[in-house]
Amino acid sequence: MSKALEWIRLHHQYLATTTHDRENLPLVIERGEGVWLYDVDGRRYLDFSSSIAVNSLGYPSHPEVVKTAIEQIQLIAHAAGTDFYNPYQVRLAIKLTEETPGTFPKKVFLANSGTEANEAALKIARTSTRRPLFISFLGGFHGRTFGSLALTASKSVQKKRQFPWMPGVFYVPYPNPYRNPWHIDGYEQPGELTNRVIEFIEEYIFDKIAPPDEFAGIFFEPIQGEGGYVVPPKNFFEELSKLAKKHGILLIDDEVQMGLGRTGRMWAIEYFNIVPDILTTAKALSGGLIPIGAAVYRAELDFEKPGMHSNTFGGNALAAVVALKVIDIVKSLLPHVLELEKLFRDELIELKDRFERVGDVRGLGLAWGVEFVRDRRSKEPDIELRDRILRGSLSKGLVLLGCGKSVIRLIPPLVISEEEAKQGLNIFKQVVKESIT
Ligand SMILES: Cc1ncc(COP(=O)(O)O)c(C=O)c1O
Repeated sequence: MSKALEWIRLHHQYLATTTHDRENLPLVIERGEGVWLYDVDGRRYLDFSSSIAVNSLGYPSHPEVVKTAIEQIQLIAHAAGTDFYNPYQVRLAIKLTEETPGTFPKKVFLANSGTEANEAALKIARTSTRRPLFISFLGGFHGRTFGSLALTASKSVQKKRQFPWMPGVFYVPYPNPYRNPWHIDGYEQPGELTNRVIEFIEEYIFDKIAPPDEFAGIFFEPIQGEGGYVVPPKNFFEELSKLAKKHGILLIDDEVQMGLGRTGRMWAIEYFNIVPDILTTAKALSGGLIPIGAAVYRAELDFEKPGMHSNTFGGNALAAVVALKVIDIVKSLLPHVLELEKLFRDELIELKDRFERVGDVRGLGLAWGVEFVRDRRSKEPDIELRDRILRGSLSKGLVLLGCGKSVIRLIPPLVISEEEAKQGLNIFKQVVKESIT
């Protein structure tokens, strides 16, 4: 038996059942180098997953980040940021306020993960507006702890045996150009799709369920991640922002998966010309080294009193200096990401042109989704085909992840070279061809 299979057996014996799919991705990682992963049997894989958008700077991380982390460990790693003060957290908070959209005064809550950043955003929104309700989008993913689980609506299994979830969240269809309840072709008629979603909020939520002045915030992903790498129409967030402003509702932009350069801009929302009131980030902020998350918000929304919200580890000294370095490196990589965008677009669109069962291709920067269907007319999701392609790619040395119902996401580390990107795209194209024909 390979070492990998034995570790997988032991994993399932001793670790909680979480998201692993034993069948699809039997990869047991021992180490990583740049954009390459090595398993416990010594096999080498090209990584097009970035460990779900965490290892944007490769493995184990960018050399400068590793150096910074080692230097900081020798000074101090945890400096009790709950009760005492340290310059590392302050420097990171200043940096995050400078690097996020909006010129107004901001403050930062430092957390340990995406879900915890969103929990903070929930509390900030409720406290500052003194309103109880939220809107979030079908297909959205915001985490799995109790508050953010209520905002999440990408797979019903996520809430299994957890009913009732936190009350006060109302779900609205996301403006998915390829698949939406109105069967609008959102690529041909983006304005129409935007109008339908805005109308839905006004007509169905505000008019029939709860008045707008009961809503604290609207949570959204600027591009849906777990929901299938869905890019909404260009004008959607401008219209949503007008609606929110009209009713004094906060816009809460979850950049946990799409932020920090993934789309070729620092934040994905920059493509949509709006400024959110609260922005949350995590995943890539860690440099793949040490968990960290953050909620960056208008200073005027801050908690009224000490003790209303806090945590032990959030943005400890080590995580803070790592994140500071990550932000600088990501900034320098943005032109590179935009250069590679064209390669991904051209290669993946070509795949769509060739194969009827490639239903949709969408993305920006190094955030790409390919949706597999039984046929173009019915658009019935082909989960079996998608899974076959995931397995086939892995067996040929390419690490990919699924999302949505029948989508594969292609999200390599931002540091990938053009040569490596072409290598991965070639494997993917070959496996798609073999799996379809
Ligand atoms: C958009 C988004 N928000 C929040 C989360 C939750 O982050 P975490 O798993 O760090 O709690 C995720 C995780 O995939 C995510 O993609």
